[in-house]
Amino acid sequence: MGRLEGETTIQRDLFGNTLGLKQSQLQRLRHTYRRRVGQGEIVSPELARHLTELSRETNRQIGVLLDRKGDVEQVIVGDATRLELPDIGRARAGQIRLRGLRLVHTHLKGEQLTRDDLTDLALLRLDLVAALTVTEDGLPGVVHFAHLLAINPQGDLWRLETLRQVHDADIGVDRLFADLEGEFSRQAALRKTDGAERAILVGMSTRGRQAAEESMAELKELARSAGVQILEAVVQGRKDVDPRYLIGRGKLQDLVLRSIQSMASMIIFDSDLSPSQARHIAEETSLKILDRTQLILDIFAQRAQSADGKLQVELAQLKYLLPRLTGRDDSLSRLAGGIGGRGPGETKLEIDRRRVRDRITSLEQKIERLAAERAVRRRQRNRRDLPVISIVGYTNAGKSTLLNALTQSEVLVEDKLFATLDPTSRRLRFPRDREVIITDTVGFIRDLPKDLVNAFRATLEELTDADLLLHVVDASDAAAEEQIRAVEAILGELGLQSTPRLLVFNKADRATGAAQVLAMRDGGVAISALNRQGFEDLLRRAETILWAHGKEALSSEEPPPSLDGTPSVAL
Ligand code: GTP
Repeated sequence: MGRLEGETTIQRDLFGNTLGLKQSQLQRLRHTYRRRVGQGEIVSPELARHLTELSRETNRQIGVLLDRKGDVEQVIVGDATRLELPDIGRARAGQIRLRGLRLVHTHLKGEQLTRDDLTDLALLRLDLVAALTVTEDGLPGVVHFAHLLAINPQGDLWRLETLRQVHDADIGVDRLFADLEGEFSRQAALRKTDGAERAILVGMSTRGRQAAEESMAELKELARSAGVQILEAVVQGRKDVDPRYLIGRGKLQDLVLRSIQSMASMIIFDSDLSPSQARHIAEETSLKILDRTQLILDIFAQRAQSADGKLQVELAQLKYLLPRLTGRDDSLSRLAGGIGGRGPGETKLEIDRRRVRDRITSLEQKIERLAAERAVRRRQRNRRDLPVISIVGYTNAGKSTLLNALTQSEVLVEDKLFATLDPTSRRLRFPRDREVIITDTVGFIRDLPKDLVNAFRATLEELTDADLLLHVVDASDAAAEEQIRAVEAILGELGLQSTPRLLVFNKADRATGAAQVLAMRDGGVAISALNRQGFEDLLRRAETILWAHGKEALSSEEPPPSLDGTPSVAL
C-alpha cells in the first residue's frame, strides 16, 4: 500500500474525517484493526455490525481496506455521503493482478454503489468494493458489491450484485479473485502485440458529427501508419471545448475506465491539445497522451531518411514539447514519450528546458547550413537548365507510384501515409531527348500544422523551383475534392499560386467514372499509376505546358510521346 499524505502517514491510524469524534469513538474505530474476516467472506457479520453501529452513531461513512488474508489494512472515516480513500496509487496500464485490497464501507441512506465507488474500483484496481447499508437502528442491511470483469461480449466493466443480508457475504472471494486474475492473464497473453502501442482514438468536434467522423477516418490511417494498434475510436460531439480536459472530465474518466479493461497504453486525440490540456489529461489518466500533431511528427520521425529530414523532425518535436516541459512528475514522460519511445528520446527528455533550448538552437544552425548547401546544389542544377516537374498531392494519393512508374525507379512505395518524407529527384527523359527533373514530395494533409510545414522546408523548398506541379489526386477517395482544396491551400501558403499545375486524377482503375468526370471538369488527366494508363495523355499535357511557349512547342501533327519503352531514366 502506498504512503499516505501528511499527518496520516502514521500507519495503522485512522484516515479521513476524524475531526469532532469523541475519544471513545476514536478508540473503537482504532480497535477495528484488531479484527479479521474469513478467507471467503466479503466481510464478516461481526465486522459489518461494528462498522454500521459506529457509522450510525457518528453519522459518517466508515470503511475498511481488507487484504487477501482478511486483515484490516486501513480504517477510513468519511462524512454522511462520501468517503475519501488514501492515495494508494493508480493501477498501471496493462496490469494483470488486482490490488490485493478490497474496500468495504457503509452507506447511511441505503444507496447503491456510487459512481465514485465504481471509479475507484477500476482506477485503483481494487479486488472488490462493497457498500453495507445501515439500518435505522445501526445494523447491517443489504450489501451491494461490485468487482471488475475481464473483457466480455457485453462490454461490461464490472459485475454488480446485491446480497439481502450480510450473512450471505461468504461468496468465496478468494476463489473469485484467483479466477479473475487467471482470466486477466489469459487475455493479456492473447493480446501480446510485440511491443506495439495499444491506443484508443478520441475525436471531438464542435462542427458536427460528420466532420468529426471524417477526420477520425484520417486519424485512423495516421495511427495505422505509425504502427499503432487501434483498440477503439470514440467520436464525441460537444457544443464547446472543455478548456481543461478537451472532452470533459466525465468523458475522460469513462475512457480511462475502458482503457484499463482493454489494456490500452495510449490515448490519441484527433485534435491538438494545448500544453495545459495535455498536462491535465496526463495527470487524470495513467496513459500516454498524444495529439494529432505529435502523431504526425511521430510518423515523420519514423520515416525521415536524410540527415536534413531527421534534424527537421527532431526540431519540430522539441519545439512542440518545450511549452509542455513544465511538469515535475511522471506525467511529463507520458506526454513526451511518443510511440514506442520514439519521441525525442528518454535521455533527451531528462534534460531541462534550458538544454532543450540549446539543442533547438544548434539544430536550427545545422539546418541553416544544410539549406545553404542545398541552395548551391539547386543553382548548379538550374544552370544546367533542366525544367523541373514536382509531384505534389495529398498523402497516399499515389505520388511515389507515379514517380516510379514514370522513371521506373524504386522510391519507397507503401500503403501507409507519408511513405515519402524526403524529396526524391529523378531525371525523366521525354521522347525526342527532352529531359526534365522530376521530384516526389511529402504527402500533404488537411490541417497540417504550420510548424510542420516549416519542418518540411527541405521537401517543400524544392517546389519553388518547379516549372510544373503535378497535383496527384486519389480519384477513388470519397474526400477527393476536399483533399484537392487542402493541397491547394498549402500551395497557396507557400506562395506557389502562379506555378503552372496539372491535376492528375489517379487510381482511375478503381474509379473510372469519377476520375474521368473530375478530369473533364478541372481540365486534368485521368490515369492509373499502377496500370500505367493515361500516361500518354499525361506526358503530352506536361510537355505542352513546359514547352508550349518555346519554339519547340509540340504541334498537333506530331505523334504522342512513345511510351512503349516508358520514359528512360538517366541518373
Ligand atoms: P505518401 O508518401 O504518403 O504521400 O503517399 P504517395 O502519395 O506517395 O502514395 P503511394 O505512391 O505510396 O501510394 C499509396 C497507395 O496507393 C499504394 O498502396 C499504391 O499501391 C496505391 N496506388 C497508387 N497508385 C494507384 C493506382 O493507380 N491505382 C490503385 N488502385 N492504387 C494505386
